[in-house]
Amino acid sequence: MLKLILLATVLAVAAAQTAVNQFPEGFLLGAATAAYQIEGGWNEDGKGENIWDHMLHEHPEYGTNGNNGDVACDSYHKYQEDVQMLKALNANVYRFSISWARILPTGDVDVINQPGIEYYNNLINELLANGIQPMVTMYHWDLPQALQYIGGWPNPLLADYFVEYARVLFENFGDRVKWWITFNEPASFTGGYGSSGLQAPSQNASGIGDYLATHTVLRAHGLVYHLYDEQYRATQNGSVGITLNIAGTEPLTNSTEDLEAVERSLQFEAGHYAHPIFSQDGDYPAIMRERVDANSAAEGRPRSRLPTFTQEEIAYLRGSSDFFGVNHYYTNIVTSGESGISPSKTRDSGIVSTAIRPYPWAFRNILNWIANEYPGYPIIVTENGFAALGYGGLNDTYRIIYYRAYLTALLQAVNTDGVPLIGYTAWSLMDNLEWNSGFTVKYGLYEVDFDSPNRTRTPKDSVAFLSQVYGSREVPQDYFY
Ligand code: NOJ
Repeated sequence: MLKLILLATVLAVAAAQTAVNQFPEGFLLGAATAAYQIEGGWNEDGKGENIWDHMLHEHPEYGTNGNNGDVACDSYHKYQEDVQMLKALNANVYRFSISWARILPTGDVDVINQPGIEYYNNLINELLANGIQPMVTMYHWDLPQALQYIGGWPNPLLADYFVEYARVLFENFGDRVKWWITFNEPASFTGGYGSSGLQAPSQNASGIGDYLATHTVLRAHGLVYHLYDEQYRATQNGSVGITLNIAGTEPLTNSTEDLEAVERSLQFEAGHYAHPIFSQDGDYPAIMRERVDANSAAEGRPRSRLPTFTQEEIAYLRGSSDFFGVNHYYTNIVTSGESGISPSKTRDSGIVSTAIRPYPWAFRNILNWIANEYPGYPIIVTENGFAALGYGGLNDTYRIIYYRAYLTALLQAVNTDGVPLIGYTAWSLMDNLEWNSGFTVKYGLYEVDFDSPNRTRTPKDSVAFLSQVYGSREVPQDYFY
């Protein structure tokens, strides 16, 4: 199996590694973006409407200052400049996403939009010509609106549509793309069918729609993994994984109750998506089954709000990933208790989050938790970054401090703890449309001037810092303790 070969290489490289402040040989270092947040060109050259176009056009009040992705960073026209920015960063990988509706405007393969294919061909070729590997997210939240009209992710048929879309991607780009991520943060985007009211498509079916959407998404992931395995792996020789968002999770106190709350929180937040794919047993975590079934019965429902996999589906999904992608930003301090509306996933979990903090040491803990809970999978940190609310400008010392501390923790996890990490892509290459927060929340290494028609990009101080780290392939030794 490819993942075992990948893992053996990772471990051999890590063993040969001596200094704790150095990245292992072959480690991927780069930056990440997503189509809706940067591309613009929302209706250009045959692109179809997606659920974010639709929602922010119909309901500008769900966004901020009327901001939307119509133009965003204009990367649809400025991708060559983006590649030069990555080059200046000394990146050897770029994680970007493909807009489903730019390739398939109706969501289905009845129309294949050739200019969309050309756009991504150009981007991929430009990256490769500059020595940068493409890492492609197939789905970063922008479902074709046509598929929302038939119910979106809670409709089990969506899994089949996703497979046909993936096939088009493998056929057109698989000769050059070796890193595929099926879904970005299912926990976030399935909230658009649950209690995250402002997440597209804003269908409020808390504690029901989000569980149904997740069920389809997991099935879709499994189908696409097996499609690659059976029809493309032999000739294309790439890897297929999934990216989950996992916050640091630390107890409020050291009481047994709080320690149990940590474990329960991790199973609801991460295990919901990871357990069916990466655990030895497969299926949803037992604690979720137990609690959601019990709550559903107590509510007088004839069925559990948490759907059930068949035995065949459990076996089919188990092991269906070559690597584990994780997005990580901050840490939740948790305790036991009731929160959230009824019904909701939060209420089902019995967790109260009491604070949110940027704790690099908790990042190291979470990387160790993933490696221990789901052994055998190389891990890629596909997002990590910092937005200081109310701060802009080029002098982003706070961001440098964040990256230094988090990369130090990451290297300790790799070199001291032996966590099989193989890559890191910072969020984000440039300031972009932060979904409902519009252009007010800035995560970029490069500033984008959203008032200039040219969407001028300018490096912030953090570019000098990260390009030094990426170029030397180490974090300054004086930061280690
Ligand atoms: C997670 C998402 O994947 C990305 O789209 C978003 O912009 C960042 N986190 C920051 O919130």
